[in-house]
Amino acid sequence: MKKILPIKNLRGEIKVPGDKSISHRAIILSALCNSTVEIENFLFSADCLSTIECVKNLGAEIKIVGAKVFVTGNGLRGLKSPTKILDAGNSGTALRLLLGLCAAQKFSTTFTGDASLSKRPIARVINPLQKMGANFSQKNLPIKILPAENLRGISYKMPIASAQVKSALLLAGLYAENFTEIVEPAPSRNHTEKMLAAFGAKIEISKSIKIFPTETLNAPEKIIVPNDISSAAYWIVLASILKNSELLIKNIGVNETRTGILDALKFMGAKFELINKKNSGGEFSADLKIFSAKLHGVELGGKIIPRMIDEIPVLAVAAAFAEGKTVIKNVGELRVKESDRLNAIVQEFNKISHGSFEVEGDNLIIHGGGKKNFAQVKTFGDHRIAMSLAIFGAAAEGVELDNSDCVKISYPKFFDFFQKLI
Ligand code: S3P
Repeated sequence: MKKILPIKNLRGEIKVPGDKSISHRAIILSALCNSTVEIENFLFSADCLSTIECVKNLGAEIKIVGAKVFVTGNGLRGLKSPTKILDAGNSGTALRLLLGLCAAQKFSTTFTGDASLSKRPIARVINPLQKMGANFSQKNLPIKILPAENLRGISYKMPIASAQVKSALLLAGLYAENFTEIVEPAPSRNHTEKMLAAFGAKIEISKSIKIFPTETLNAPEKIIVPNDISSAAYWIVLASILKNSELLIKNIGVNETRTGILDALKFMGAKFELINKKNSGGEFSADLKIFSAKLHGVELGGKIIPRMIDEIPVLAVAAAFAEGKTVIKNVGELRVKESDRLNAIVQEFNKISHGSFEVEGDNLIIHGGGKKNFAQVKTFGDHRIAMSLAIFGAAAEGVELDNSDCVKISYPKFFDFFQKLI
């Protein structure tokens, strides 16, 4: 159990941890090279540690020295047959990306995961991989991938915007007989494409994404992971909704496929500025200065949704403090995240502000300005629900979370910052 007390304002500077999506990809792609890659500002969270364990079992040498990670692979075709079942834990990214990579190998691999991951859909990644010629024992965890003949490149129109599915196909495509083409319904995060390009892969990006088979990947000596905008989002929302706040969050990733939360908040009337923009290996980062603001309700939908998919729970908190109604359309994907997040929002967020949150079909509706009270709430073991509820409670009358340990998935020190505020 964890009790969060109300907070009056948020002032000063905060460092959020390294980007989760980029940390996973840095480990996986570095393991496919022949050199040693130094990864700086890696996110040491449960999800990324699951990826490290899986990739170590596939034969790469991974050393953690202080805050840095050093990965030494054996080349694109140097992965080894694992001697045990690979456990992706709670991580959809670890599982889905590695399913794509392992589907192309000449050996068999078995994957498992925790109870939440076991309930999440993998057919969306298995189906296109099967079209490429990959063999799977079944479409549930634990899943065994049987050794593949050479995969064939396919042209695949993705039914849903998913960076994990796209990345799985891009990784498998490195080993296919001809090129693989992917068409997304809307752009999802493009970290895999950017990192593959930085590693010298032949990848073409226009209306579709084309990956060509290759013999080698060449990593840069060092990858510097920017700070995670998804983790920053909690403080961005809190600083916006608390009066008399002014917060500086340094060096957050501002890749345009991830900044939907900033666009949405701006549309709602948030006040912030981005300064000191930097480029590291194709990934941009910047310092964000955020001030309190009077927010108003908006209607959001379409291409912005995949650009802020993980931030929707905390955006719903912002909307509860805004004036008027907010509608976030077509967010059915939230039902298959680490928990059913639409259900969690309606069931638990309404305990803090009764009647403020509704779901109609795949749309989330938030009635801003409702009365807020202290509540005891459930996190469903979902890190983003836990952090959003904590922010909600801090801006309202406090909250008691049944399980707060789940923040270790993406932001192990999340509650330390709260401690400093009180
Ligand atoms: C991620 C992609 C998204 C996101 C997840 C991380 C990634 O999932 O929700 O937290 O790193 O590729 P989907 O691919 O299921 O949309």
